Amino acid sequence: MSFPEIPADQSPEWSSLQSAAARIRHRIRDDGVLRHCDPAAVLAIEELGIELDGTRQWLDAAALDSLHAFARAQQLEARRDALLGGALVNHSERRAALHGALRSPKTASIVSGGQDVVPLVHATLARMRELADALHAGRLTGAGGTPITDIVNIGIGGSDLGPRLVCDALQDEAPDHLRVHFLSNVDGTGAARLMRKLRPAATLFIVSSKSFATRETRLNAKTLFAWCLASGLSASELQAQVFAVTARPAAAEEFGIAADNILPLWDWVGGRFSVWSAIGLPVALQLGYRKFEEMLAGAAAMDQHFAKAELEQNLPMRMALLAIWNGTVLNMPSHCAVAYDDRLRLFVDWLQQLEMESNGKGRTASGERLAYATSQVVWGGLGTNDQHAYFQLLREGTRETSIDLLCVQQPSHACAEHHVALLANARAQADALADRVGGRAGGNAVSVLSMKKFDPHMLGMLLSAFEHRTAMIGAALGINSFDQPGVELGKQMAAALEQA
Ligand code: F6P
Repeated sequence: MSFPEIPADQSPEWSSLQSAAARIRHRIRDDGVLRHCDPAAVLAIEELGIELDGTRQWLDAAALDSLHAFARAQQLEARRDALLGGALVNHSERRAALHGALRSPKTASIVSGGQDVVPLVHATLARMRELADALHAGRLTGAGGTPITDIVNIGIGGSDLGPRLVCDALQDEAPDHLRVHFLSNVDGTGAARLMRKLRPAATLFIVSSKSFATRETRLNAKTLFAWCLASGLSASELQAQVFAVTARPAAAEEFGIAADNILPLWDWVGGRFSVWSAIGLPVALQLGYRKFEEMLAGAAAMDQHFAKAELEQNLPMRMALLAIWNGTVLNMPSHCAVAYDDRLRLFVDWLQQLEMESNGKGRTASGERLAYATSQVVWGGLGTNDQHAYFQLLREGTRETSIDLLCVQQPSHACAEHHVALLANARAQADALADRVGGRAGGNAVSVLSMKKFDPHMLGMLLSAFEHRTAMIGAALGINSFDQPGVELGKQMAAALEQA
């Protein structure tokens, strides 16, 4: 079943959202800070060990009810089912968006375009496991049996941000002798730095590009491969050390990559949703396949919750509705995500592409211009560092901002005093950022997303929850979240200038 995008302001519930917003703004103006003490503002998903505390949002029980009514009018549950079931939700490109299938169990069956995609997914996972196992057992080596010490992922956008985030977040679980590098920018500085420190015979290269047409990726690969050859690797030795992940295998072969070393991707996986596919190969290679699998299992657990939980108890749905409330109804221009955990220091980079490339659009797929705000500008970083940078603006600046503070309850280290200080800061900032300051009514709309502990499973749940949040924001706002026509013009103009 396929759904047309319905503009949010054509919903029968749109006017009730507008009056709820006006009422809330009056309450804030008259009473100062709005404290929503309704227990429903805290969504605790006990079985997943994750809780969203929305008690510092500009929301009361009646406004939350209006949001739920709006979600029903926009058929969000049916749209979720269509997304997970393989319907053609990407209308402009006539594709499904089946990233959920990438973490589905072997026993599942998800049919898209007349084909069950689950066997394809599991055949690729098996290949990833083979490679990771061979590397960790010392069977996958460089030229002349040289042990591999370095892995270079060459890719950009979705072919970079997901695996870069995960490898960084889980680096404590990786063996010391394997380093992973991410080369994305076309600026030659990155390639030059790598060429200064790598030994070609001890390095594996992964060229990750869904289209295999991306200028940055092709140029970086060309430069590094030319350097390897000039440093003494033979063409066949180099070929054995290069892998590609792509939905265009013919283009990768034409580039010189051995057919056996090409792992598939499919049109129904969007780049920014692709870390679960072979795009995650650097994760599996660095951490070992088991950790990658744990991350997939975490994502699958969140998928199950998303698929089954009632609208009112559904975490990704709640996150999406809060984003619509803050960004579209209350018109807050930006959303700041601050992780109170060093392991999530790259989270916001990943989230920026996920949310803004997906929902930074002003038209429905059928071309109708939208008369309301769509994606917020997403930014943020790391607590407590950023308290000493832009938090001044959040506290006393002139713009209202919605804020997510992410924290982990149990530390994974023995520095207990640090963790107490870290969580005290997160808690203090949640209150401080939400409060009225210096006569400014309202402060910011703050959520605290709290995870019991942090491991590959939790990371999988977290990323999956945000993926679903993004898809449901788009579905509610009448946007196709799965294409990115706006990035093409810049590529064409740069290509023309390069040739001029
Ligand atoms: O420029 C946008 C984009 O198309 C992203 O959507 C994508 O993740 C990135 O470029 C990289 O594309 P590819 O994987 O095809 O090289």
